[in-house]
Amino acid sequence: MTQSQVSYSQLQQAVAALRAGEVVAFPTETVYGLGADASNPEAVKKIYQLKGRPSSHPLIVHIGDITQLPQWASELSLAAVNLASAFWPGPLTLVLKRDPAVNTVVTGGQDTVAVRVPSHPVALQLLKAFGGGIAAPSANRFGHVSPTRVEHVREEFGADVGIVLDGAGCEIGLESTIVSCVGPVPQLLRPGAITLAQLQAVVPQVTAAVDATAPRAPGMLERHYSPRTPLKLVATSDLQAAIRQMTQVGETVAVLATFSTTEINEQVIWINGSTNSTLYARNLYGNIRVLDKLGASVILVEALPSSDEWLAVNDRLRRAATPA
Ligand code: TXA
Ligand code: MG
Repeated sequence: MTQSQVSYSQLQQAVAALRAGEVVAFPTETVYGLGADASNPEAVKKIYQLKGRPSSHPLIVHIGDITQLPQWASELSLAAVNLASAFWPGPLTLVLKRDPAVNTVVTGGQDTVAVRVPSHPVALQLLKAFGGGIAAPSANRFGHVSPTRVEHVREEFGADVGIVLDGAGCEIGLESTIVSCVGPVPQLLRPGAITLAQLQAVVPQVTAAVDATAPRAPGMLERHYSPRTPLKLVATSDLQAAIRQMTQVGETVAVLATFSTTEINEQVIWINGSTNSTLYARNLYGNIRVLDKLGASVILVEALPSSDEWLAVNDRLRRAATPA
């Protein structure tokens, strides 16, 4: 499903823009990123401006392979190297002690840096052709839903971002798993497609318990990933009643569930997001964008199982449901 290549001229254009200190949007296997030359503070500042993101919220540095890691991070632990070796290229971000040379615009003024090697072929092509690190948050306006298709990036930024590399859909659809490797034991800061169990299979000490020794992860705000339409989580058994309550008073309801219904009418818009957590995650942000555009009074999302495979999806839905 992911497009494996962009043309040579598109790639050269993107590299030239990065070298000139411009911002370029590109696909990764998780979500689309809004990238700039990580070693150029003025370029990185443009990302914050475009997103409307507070400058204290650090960015992830994307690199082409693990051999570039020492340029960004120092005091690498065995755990960090083992996690990187096991999961890169892939949807894992490591928070590490920053190399003193790393500019503090990228790190939001912290003494740590977040780094990952993405696996999307277009991201890797871009990183290899560029040669350096690309600082990139998700390519959405601050607090909004992350983009998983090239159209989403256009919706977010329009002509403000000139180069958007097309990598078709993002296979994973949720932001990377973030693990801090700076404390005494590695800590899971943000759940993602790589689960705690998978991390622990490589480094048994990894814990999901985040305590005061964990680095600040600004941007992990309670309300995040939010559509404009209010989003509510509803237990499966309460879904029918919740829909009736709204439609009886003339409201339109958008529903994201794990099953289909025959009860669709002009007041009920329904998407079956799948019972398969991988497929559900892949389409989650796209589905929310569709439902958000319909002018419904509310988006009702069927609450999902609390098992490990749904952890990352539940994390994003909980944040999306947090009122402003
Ligand atoms: O999958 C992803 O991670 C995507 C793609 C584009 O790679 N990027 C992404 O970036 O989700 P962003 O900026 O939306 O989220 C990055 C998160 C922030 O919530 C921030 O708190 C955390 O990474 N982070 C970055 N640098 C950090 C640091 N030095 N210490 C702790 N947390 C950090
Ligand atoms: Mg984001």
